[in-house]
Amino acid sequence: MTSAASDFVSTASSSAATAQNILFDVRPGEVSFSFGAPDESLLRQIVPVLKQATIERLEADPDAYTLLQYGPIAGDAVFINQLAAFLRLHYNDPHVDATHLMATAGASQGLSFACTHLMKPGDPVLIEDPTYFLAEQLILEHHLKTVGVRTDDDGINVEDLEKQLKAIPIKNPSEGYSAMLYLVPTFSNPRGTTISHEKRQRIVALAHQYNVIVVCDDVYELLCYKGAQPPVPRLFSYDAAILRDTPAASKRGHVISNASFSKIFGPGVRLGWIEAWVDIQEKLTNTGFMASGGGVQHCMSGLMGTAIQNGSLDRVIAALQAAYGARMAAVCAKLRQAIPAGVVNLIEPQGGLFMWVEFRDTAVDTEALLARARREFAVGFQPGNRFSQSKTFGHCMRLGIAFHPEAELLSGVDRLARLIHASIADGSIRVVP
Ligand SMILES: Cc1ncc(COP(=O)(O)O)c(C=O)c1O
Repeated sequence: MTSAASDFVSTASSSAATAQNILFDVRPGEVSFSFGAPDESLLRQIVPVLKQATIERLEADPDAYTLLQYGPIAGDAVFINQLAAFLRLHYNDPHVDATHLMATAGASQGLSFACTHLMKPGDPVLIEDPTYFLAEQLILEHHLKTVGVRTDDDGINVEDLEKQLKAIPIKNPSEGYSAMLYLVPTFSNPRGTTISHEKRQRIVALAHQYNVIVVCDDVYELLCYKGAQPPVPRLFSYDAAILRDTPAASKRGHVISNASFSKIFGPGVRLGWIEAWVDIQEKLTNTGFMASGGGVQHCMSGLMGTAIQNGSLDRVIAALQAAYGARMAAVCAKLRQAIPAGVVNLIEPQGGLFMWVEFRDTAVDTEALLARARREFAVGFQPGNRFSQSKTFGHCMRLGIAFHPEAELLSGVDRLARLIHASIADGSIRVVP
């Protein structure tokens, strides 16, 4: 093990767990709320599902060898049709159309495709403040410039969005989009909030008015704890409803749903999909990348198609919804009970993997608090400013509930509570009734 690799040590002692944590900075014995990745117990339950789908597909399909060939550019037709049927059911939307779907190697690649093929260097990308920080890094790597937009408890602040849009020169559609708007609309990362129906209508109207492409990271849409379907329809469906009534010559998409199997199956499969209107699909697929390598994740998509068809993906999603729902409820209840009144504000999310905790004392510096948390209490989290352009969230932290089973998470809450009590006692956190 290199010295760098030896810094990444699992919370469990097995070598398998060490391998699973290779990307994650977790010290021995630490409970970490820092990550949006499933713990070992969840992944282990999914292994037999993948095994069964693989056996079924490779044994039962005489044409299974085609999975080892270069794949069709928008994705294997069988998989795409299975995905369309799956989404019609899970989104409760009869309009999901296979011609709007393409396979990706996950939402990170989907966002990268959108940045590469729909934007030009220097173009503005509006992002929520706070937003998923790795998306911001990815956007900046494409030589685009980010512009922060304020957020409320029901997602992006549309008044601020319009103010920022007014400051951006509007391009003629023949020159491309004037700007991109990057959103995590449902059970967002980092705040766990969901954009309301009214705001979704307004956002799509603004996108048409200002010639904006909205890229929705829809990776948490299906991780609703109560009720199988997303609480509000995905933003793409609002745009599609407009486009269905638009004359053929002027149909032009303004919303992309960029989704993934990472959070509803396992991140290691590196499989996702983009749902976008046909004009956008053409821009994303008519590329040197696709011409050279063919459709993305062709073999994996074939196996996932079988998991969709035999119903096992549905069962995995139901199990994850139940596990994450139970964890979130338990963590929130314990936080409320263990942290004294007047110290934090929190909104209990109804889905997804993250909760946002705001210290009422705005002088709290969660970056410094994290250093103490790890050193003295063996607990980790993400400080709020890591998600923020404006750096005005230093008194906030993001807690993720995916990375440990419930009992370990509750031990983590105990440690956070002890940290907070110690900080109140030495005056580094003030109670603000
Ligand atoms: C909002 C958001 N988008 C994208 C990703 C990464 O998705 P993928 O694994 O599909 O690339 C994450 C992972 O945490 C995320 O939270």
